[in-house]
Order: sequence, then C-alpha cells, then structure tokens
Amino acid sequence: MMSTVFSGIQPSGTLTIGNYIGAMSHHVQFQEEHDCFYCIVDQHAITVPQDRLALRKNIRSLAALYLAAGIDPEKSTLFIQSEVPAHSQMAWMMQCVAYIGELERMTQFKDKSAGKEAVSSGLLTYPPLMSADILLYQTELVPVGEDQKQHLELTRNLAERFNRTYNDILTIPEPEIPDVGARIMSLQDPTKKMSKSDANQKGFISMLDEPATIRKKIKSAVTDSEQEIYYDPENKPGIANLLSIYALSSQQAIEDLVEQYKDSSYGTFKADVAEAVVSMLEPIQTRYYELIDSEELDQILDQGAEHANRTANKTLTKAERAMGLGRKRR
Ligand code: TYM
Repeated sequence: MMSTVFSGIQPSGTLTIGNYIGAMSHHVQFQEEHDCFYCIVDQHAITVPQDRLALRKNIRSLAALYLAAGIDPEKSTLFIQSEVPAHSQMAWMMQCVAYIGELERMTQFKDKSAGKEAVSSGLLTYPPLMSADILLYQTELVPVGEDQKQHLELTRNLAERFNRTYNDILTIPEPEIPDVGARIMSLQDPTKKMSKSDANQKGFISMLDEPATIRKKIKSAVTDSEQEIYYDPENKPGIANLLSIYALSSQQAIEDLVEQYKDSSYGTFKADVAEAVVSMLEPIQTRYYELIDSEELDQILDQGAEHANRTANKTLTKAERAMGLGRKRR
C-alpha cells in the first residue's frame, strides 16, 4: 500500500556513512513504493551556532548528495525547510501544545546542553519543529536511525494531544527504524554513535572522503585485543560495527561474513571493509561532483519547494482553523 513518507537530515557538516546507511539509503528505497518528502532541515541546524557560508554550502551539498545517492525528483519531493514557511508556523503551534517538562527530558537535549552555559532556546524547542515537519504532510511513515526514536514518540504524543484538544486532523506517524545499521558507531569509540559533528575526524567516514582517507580511517579503527572475528556488539563493539558497515556496504548478511572471515586477521578483514565502503561511495561521489554546481540542482529544489508549500499549507490552514487563529474563512 502506498503511504506518505517524510524524513529530514540536518545540513550540519558532510554526511557520514552512518547517515547514509541508517537513513538515506532507506529514503532511496522508499521512493519506489511510497509518496516521499525529503527535507534538508536548515532551521534545525541553527539550534547550535553555524557559520553562514558553511551552512549555505552544506545545504547545497546535502541536496546534491541526496540526488547522487538516488533520490529521483520524479518520484520524491526534495526541498529545503526554510523555503517552506509553514514549518516554522506549525512549529510555533506545536510548541504551544508541548510541555517544557517533556522537552527537557529529551536525551538529545540533555546531551547537547550538558555542561554548557549558553544553550539556545531553539535547542529545547527543536522537537516541536521536527513534529511540525512530519505532521504537515499527514505522514504515515518516518524512516530514521535509532537516535530519532524518542523524537518520534514525542511527535506521536503531540499529534494525539492536538487531535484530542482541538480537532482530529493530524495523522499519527509511525517510525521506521532498520534492524541492522540503525546505529553505526564511531570508529574511534565504538560505544558512541558515528556523528558528523564529532571533533575527531578519525571517528567518522564522510560520504565525500577519498578512498585513501577511507582506507586509513578503517585501518586505524579501534577494535579489541582478541584476534577472532565474530558478531558480539556488547563485548566486541568495534568488530561488530565494522561487520555491520561491511554487510550494509556490500549487501551481504553478517553471518555470511563471519563465516568467510573466521580464519582471517583483523588486518585483512579491515582492508576488505574499506574496499566495500569505497565501492559503495564511488558512484555517489562521481554523480555528486556533476551535480554540485549545476542549474539542474536549483531547478529540482525550486520544484520541490513549490510542491511542499502546496501540500504543507493545506494542513497548516486546517490546524489554524482548529486552534481558532485568524478570521473565520469562507
Ligand atoms: P540527523 O541530521 O542527525 O541525521 C539524519 C539521519 O541519519 C540518522 N543517523 C544515523 N543512523 C545510523 N547510525 C548513525 N551513526 C547515525 N547518525 C545519524 C538519523 O537517525 C537520521 O535519520 N532531527 C533529525 C532531523 C529531522 C527529521 C525531521 C527526521 C528534522 N525533522 C523529521 C525525520 C523527520 C536529525 O537531527 O537527524
């Protein structure tokens, strides 16, 4: 059955293979069967300070990466959040539905604000903006990685509260979290998720890293002092992470890889993981460099914004009417 799908990615640095494996590759698959909206969430990115020119560059880069990875503008709507004003309008309304207490309990807020003196209020009200993103499109499915699960639960709660309090107009969305690859870990600390904002560049592989860099980073990935390859995320998080990355880069099952490498050294194994990642990224990188300075990219984003505006405004109008904002419309 065809469903409405929505997902977003922050343009806060070049995407990592964690973002690709955990989210973007699924976004590409979903467009074959569903009506998909993919959003470059630049308003989420400014919840922490951004350099103006770097943000501009990252927005365009993320759009090009989405297309290079296989998002087809004939099948999906690709657009930039700040070009669809309904997102911030609906976000305000969702902030008025959300309680401060439930926002303060969000793990991501706690992590990102811990130990900081100046924390923007946007960091606290980030989840109602994310809820607005999703709810504006009457979304049924939201493909994300594991770290977004709590924000999805909040979105469901806010939508239910809105429907109960005002009028039953919002669709309750379901998260769609992959079984394997929903949480790719840092190469330097396999107990932490791989993150594009990690200060240690060796912890992540960016989707635009060159082959030599990828080989070097995987070679120096932290593992353990054993010399045996098997899948045990608890006791061997480094090897388990490399097995997941290998499996998803080469579309093989983890257990087949374990069988294949049971007598191999970590060195041989790591070299093959690196080749699998290089082969996965090569065609994406080639297409990326064709697109990045093209007019085609702007046309796709213009078209995307137009379609997104039209769709989002329908829900926005209904929600404003339900809350009693503005004048009675005939
Ligand atoms: P963001 O930009 O941090 O990450 C984008 C997507 O990548 C997934 N992801 C990972 N998956 C596996 N392993 C990892 N190490 C890893 N790191 C990130 C994330 O789960 C996400 O799916 N709040 C969101 C963006 C957002 C959004 C939305 C998503 C805004 N509005 C509406 C869905 C629907 C975020 O910061 O993702």
